[in-house]
Amino acid sequence: MSDFRRVIALVATKGGAGKTTIAACLAGEWGHRGQDVALLDADPQRTLSAWHAGGGPLVDIPIGAASGASVDPALQGLMKQHALVIVDTAGFANRDTLAVLRWADVALVPFGPSPADALGAAQTIKLLCDVNATVERQRTPVQILMVMNGVSRGAMTAHIRGEVERLGMPVLAPSVHRRQIYAEAMLSGSAPCWMGSGAKAAAAEIAALADACWVSAGRSNK
Ligand SMILES: Nc1ncnc2c1ncn2[C@@H]1O[C@H](COP(=O)(O)OP(=O)(O)OP(=O)(O)O)[C@@H](O)[C@H]1O
Ligand SMILES: [Mg+2]
Repeated sequence: MSDFRRVIALVATKGGAGKTTIAACLAGEWGHRGQDVALLDADPQRTLSAWHAGGGPLVDIPIGAASGASVDPALQGLMKQHALVIVDTAGFANRDTLAVLRWADVALVPFGPSPADALGAAQTIKLLCDVNATVERQRTPVQILMVMNGVSRGAMTAHIRGEVERLGMPVLAPSVHRRQIYAEAMLSGSAPCWMGSGAKAAAAEIAALADACWVSAGRSNK
């Protein structure tokens, strides 16, 4: 077993930002690359578990599902067994999300290209800064990264990215575009990397996102 350990939690206090989509697609991408990756579904809605059970290749990636007091042991168990754990959390600040944030190396915050989404992301960043101010995380803060999800070529996407960057928020360069293929991936228990030529553009942007997460996380953590 590798000494390398990393927990990446998808966190957004605003619902529907793309946490589950990005968790599943990143896990698929890293699994496809041969990484020892596992998933944890810490959202009581269990959308990620339903995606995983959809009868496609994502089923080969180990998954746990936990709520309440079981979140902590479930996450620690997966951390012991796998080099990389991707955790999907609920779209609001709850105790389960806070339990995940005790262990996460990286909090990846998806947000859409609208003023309301940018505001939601700012609120999530504030929550994460509060977590980093706790005694438990003061010396090993969770690294905060943001990703724009559901973007288009419209002016609003560029405007929102410009504003967020101007405020010095840690938004990754690759974005995830609004594409039907992401919903199709969920229906078929798959991820773009496994979905052939029709998913080429989605697979490429998820691969770029995986690389950017890896480099950004590696650079400033450990
Ligand atoms: N890049 C995208 N392109 C098209 N549809 C998307 C994209 N990202 C997410 N969606 C769709 O938007 C909806 C919400 O996405 P998702 O479930 O990933 O968000 P979430 O943050 O996990 O939501 P929740 O807060 O309910 O857990 C889903 O129907 C999903 O298929
Ligand atoms: Mg979700």
